Amino acid sequence: MKKLIIINGPNLNLLGKREPNIYGSLTFTEFLEEVKTKYKNVDLDYYQSNIEGELIDKLHEVGFEFDGIILNAAAYTHTSVGIGDAIKAIETPVIEVHISNTFGREEFRHQSFVSPNAKGVILGFGLQSYELAIQSFLN
Ligand code: DQA
Repeated sequence: MKKLIIINGPNLNLLGKREPNIYGSLTFTEFLEEVKTKYKNVDLDYYQSNIEGELIDKLHEVGFEFDGIILNAAAYTHTSVGIGDAIKAIETPVIEVHISNTFGREEFRHQSFVSPNAKGVILGFGLQSYELAIQSFLN
């Protein structure tokens, strides 16, 4: 059984309440339940933090053990050299995901410190972005 983890960065704990016109009205807990029911053949873990260093610690912790990491570093995507370096330092492949199409939004969201170190990038498909990332690890 593949061991995968979804790691969500800052403000993603507010999914369902936060700018629903951009991020939708489903909470991540609701979404995760649906996904776990659908992908019973995946050992799927979940972690969320609003704190940059905690996200880095989690990448270190799982990055030599898990088969895949699905990372939405949220706003830190655009600012964090530390998260970019952590992805470089670990062995587990990382897929970068975003709910929104960051390239259709403000200029500062076009820059990513995650992308150059990621196996691939999936964005703009709403919460389905996470599901597509799971599928890519299963193929
Ligand atoms: C996001 C896009 C980021 O620019 C933003 O800061 C987020 C969410 C997304 O999933 O669309 O918090 O990563």
